Formats: sequence, C-alpha cells, structure tokens
Amino acid sequence: MIKTIGVLTSGGDAPGMNAAIRAVVRAACELGMKVYGIKRGYNGLMEDDMFEMNLRSVSDIINRGGTILYSARSPRFKTEEGMADAIENCKKRGIEGLVVIGGDGSFRGARDLSLRGIPCVAIPGTIDNDIGCCDYTIGYDTAMNTIMQMVDRIRDTAESHDRCAVVEVMGRGAGYLALNAGVACGATSILIPEIPYEFDRDVIERMKRAQKSDKVHFVIVVSEAIGGVEEMAKRIEAETGVEARATILGHVQRGGSPTAKDRIVASQMGFRAVQLLKDGVGNRVVAMRRENIVDYDIFEALLMKNTIDLDMNKMNCDISI
Ligand code: ADP
Ligand code: F6P
Repeated sequence: MIKTIGVLTSGGDAPGMNAAIRAVVRAACELGMKVYGIKRGYNGLMEDDMFEMNLRSVSDIINRGGTILYSARSPRFKTEEGMADAIENCKKRGIEGLVVIGGDGSFRGARDLSLRGIPCVAIPGTIDNDIGCCDYTIGYDTAMNTIMQMVDRIRDTAESHDRCAVVEVMGRGAGYLALNAGVACGATSILIPEIPYEFDRDVIERMKRAQKSDKVHFVIVVSEAIGGVEEMAKRIEAETGVEARATILGHVQRGGSPTAKDRIVASQMGFRAVQLLKDGVGNRVVAMRRENIVDYDIFEALLMKNTIDLDMNKMNCDISI
C-alpha cells in the first residue's frame, strides 16, 4: 500500500476546496498514511514548500471558503525544468501519490505528472462547472447561490428606481453560472457564449414586450465571456428609455462559506481519491455523473465534453418576461 501522499489546490480557488482537503487528510490518516499539504499548487511542489498534516491540521475548515493550502497559477510547471523540480521533490519526500484539486488546467498538470511516474488523482474544484467529464464541480453551487443573493439585492434597488440592472457574472469561457443563476434570479434575458444572440432581438425587444404588460424594472444577466455590460446599459437606456446600471460581480463570487452540497460532494470526492490511491490506482479523475461519484482515466477524462442545457434558456424566455 502507498505510504505517503501529497495534496494540493491549484488554479482559481473555489468554496469547498477546504472540505475536500479535510476529507483527503482524514481518510489518509485513518489508513496510517503520511500526508503532505503542498502550498500554492504546483509552486509548492516545485519549490518543496510543503508540510506534514495530521488529523487536527484540518479541524474547523469544512465551513470555510478559500483554501488553507493557498492556490496559484504556476506557468513554470509547464516547462521541463519545472516538472523536473516537482518530481525530484516528490522523490525526496517519498510522495508516491498526489491528490490535485482544481480545474481542467490543473488536471493537465496532473496528467503530465502521471506520465512521468507520479500517480495522481484529480478532483474537480472550480466555480465555473466547466470540466467536460463532470456534471458538477466543487464550488459551483456556492457561487450560484452567492450570485443569486447578490442579484436579489440589486433587484431591490432596481425595483425602487424603475431601472434595468445589467449584471456580469463569472464562468471564464462557459455559461453554466450565468444560465443557471439567471434562471434562479428571473432574469429577463441571459446572454451566454454557448448561445448566439442578437442584442436587439434578445434584450431590447424582450424588454419592450414586457413593458407592454407594465413591467418597469429588469434584470439582465451576462456571462463574462460576453462582457461589455457598461455599453449594454447605455444601449438599453437609449433604446427603451429605462435607466440602466451595470454591475460586474467579480471575485465576490469566489468566496464565502460553502453550501451543504459543496461540502458533501467535496467530502465524497476527497474520500474517494484516497481509496483509489490506497489500492495503488492513480491517473484518475474523480467526477460526479448523474448524482453518483465515479472515476475516469485522466487521459480519457480530458477528452470528454459536457453540453449546456439549451432548453433552460428557452424556458426562461417563456417564464421571465
Ligand atoms: P484551472 O485548474 O482552474 O483550470 P489553470 O488553467 O490556471 O487553472 O491551471 C492551473 C495550473 O495548472 C497552471 O498554472 C499550470 O501550472 C497547470 N497547467 C495548466 N495547463 C497545463 C498544461 N496544459 N500542461 C501542464 N500543466 C498545466
Ligand atoms: O476559474 C474561476 C474564475 O473565477 C473564472 O470564473 C474567472 O474567469 C477567473 O477564474 C478569474 O481569474 P482571476 O482570479 O485570476 O482573476
């Protein structure tokens, strides 16, 4: 059985990463393994910045956002020298298996390490929910609920002033957060990169139609992949006569205490990762498929594609007018 493992968080942080770290450390300690917490993602691996963790190292973190191991984007890790340093430090510390919690960029790093003989198990952690092999990524539910709460507040003031709120939400190149949070907020229009749009048809005309039934305040949700919310607000004012304000929600969407769903899924995934490594199984991705925790070969996982539910937008067009 593997005796020593490492755990790291990489890429953009996500609420629930701490719950995953906790599950990894506790499950490994229960099996008598030695566990290194590696700081700042692949940077810590290259710079040998790591420490031994025990049962109490992960006390009182299940409820905390961010990551106690810190996170980073590590361009040097993509170079041969960076990779060589990382492998040397794993050998020096006796690390025989690694748990990588992050997005698909971090998964590619884990794949490269696996190719060079360090068995890795990757866990999806990103608010964007944009990993092809997974129906769900840790942090998504919390971010969606944060967006909903923020937009509810924006709606209060938009309502008081008969305004249109144009809100930009995160998601990198993917529209999952915008689409689903948009539905939860009753947005009149939702603009995401997966669905081609015409601003006049999909925003202005819809607002004008709603005005005919006496609607006087509006919420429009726009994915950051589309952007341009300030310009959109100006166009809305000019073409509908409704005063408009743009808000970019920004990093508020990445923080906060994880929801129950994120804590539970993170705990299940962290536990599963250790069970795999324990049996000498590496080069895997832990994923959620149809509410089940499963695992895939890391190379195959990186080739999988997810589709966004386009019917959700059609439905929203009918019910949020
Ligand atoms: P995320 O994991 O959230 O998608 P990034 O795309 O920024 O975030 O990736 C995090 C880190 O993973 C990068 O800084 C880099 O160290 C590593 N990484 C990303 N892409 C690759 C790749 N193609 N090959 C090897 N490592 C990669
Ligand atoms: O991947 C998570 C994410 O928050 C994306 O939604 C966003 O595009 C990006 O990270 C922002 O990155 P940074 O924290 O480097 O500004």
